[in-house]
Amino acid sequence: MATTTTDTAARWAWLRAKTPTLREMIYLNSGFQGPMSEPIAEAMTAWLDRELREGPTSRPLLAARRELSQQYREAVAKMLGADADEIAITDNTTDGINMVTSGMSVEAGDGIVTSGIEHASGIVPSYYLRERRGADLHIVPIGSDDSPGTMVEAFGRAIDSRTSLVLISGISYSTGQRLPVADIVALAHREAPQSIVLIDGAQTGGHEPLDMHASGVDAYAIPMHKWMSGPGGLGALYVRRDRITDLEPAAVGGHAAASFDFEGGFTPNRESIQKFELTTVSGVLLAGGLATVQQYLDSGPQNVWDRARTLNQYAEARIAGIPGVTISSPRTEATRSGLFAFRAEGIEAALLAAHLWLDAKIVCRSVRETACLRLSLHAYNNEDDIDAVARSVERALTSGVHPEAAASLPVRATPEP
Ligand SMILES: Cc1ncc(COP(=O)(O)O)c(C=O)c1O
Repeated sequence: MATTTTDTAARWAWLRAKTPTLREMIYLNSGFQGPMSEPIAEAMTAWLDRELREGPTSRPLLAARRELSQQYREAVAKMLGADADEIAITDNTTDGINMVTSGMSVEAGDGIVTSGIEHASGIVPSYYLRERRGADLHIVPIGSDDSPGTMVEAFGRAIDSRTSLVLISGISYSTGQRLPVADIVALAHREAPQSIVLIDGAQTGGHEPLDMHASGVDAYAIPMHKWMSGPGGLGALYVRRDRITDLEPAAVGGHAAASFDFEGGFTPNRESIQKFELTTVSGVLLAGGLATVQQYLDSGPQNVWDRARTLNQYAEARIAGIPGVTISSPRTEATRSGLFAFRAEGIEAALLAAHLWLDAKIVCRSVRETACLRLSLHAYNNEDDIDAVARSVERALTSGVHPEAAASLPVRATPEP
């Protein structure tokens, strides 16, 4: 039976009521880190409590932790349309991306294709492949208004038989646009059958419905702490079963050995995706991660995606009308996501973000690369949140930003996540 609007409205109201952050402020920054709900936090504290009372390595708890990692792998696999033995447990998206870029075979002159709308976590590993292995790096320019077809054509000009890696975001952190991943995968596999298509899913996991097997993608990295609203320090990497042996683990421990002895006998583990995992993973994080994936699946990936994009349409209608505002995220349905980006004439984006916090307790971020303010519109947000942003931006444009905004700007040494 299809989910009705009433069902989903009740679900969003429940989620909102169960998320303490949302009682305190207007939170529009899931693309950075999502606010955790009480049920997820309770799953984590319940596990910690068991460790305190039962002993972290008592026989029952050890067995339970082994089962927990498997349950986490299975839940992530379900969410991603994959199998549990194609899922590695990671620390975050960047960790998963690096497992692939450091573990694949790249020789001088091999092509690496990425885009001009990537996060540092995609572009920097690409540059390192150029620096360390002499790869030929192609950065495809993408406009925020480009249609899926235009994007595929642009990638078509960069991908050829020498391409060994295509590394792109599923949704750009800066423009907010959704990339036609399945079409780019098909293109890459047609032109360069040996190539690996690796997706930076920092902005897609927990945001748009994903199906690894249907898309044919080779590898896909997601975090738990952004649109999933789970704990920081946990993520997942999908690698298509038949590509696992093409990747060598760059960092290795016991899981990377099929067998070894102390007389020189050693057989690497090539087959299992767990070769990428090192040693102890926090049971608290895994318990939180499992509850996070369950919460997301209970909400319904399609429902979350529909709601986020509906809120984006509302934001466009409400905010585009403000004199002095220019929308910079996509305004067409084919590439629209829950990320909404805009500029306010004469006000630097970082200053506007500081103003929104001081003026109306609104949490969002600016994106330096595109000089935009970015709102992450999640299913738990609502039209009132967007109206509050609009009113505060109007105040900034008519009466000036909050007097303490400039002084509150952080001194930035490294790129923001
Ligand atoms: C597109 C993209 N990739 C990677 C990252 C880094 O994610 P993580 O902290 O999970 O490594 C971010 C963070 O905002 C991002 O937006």
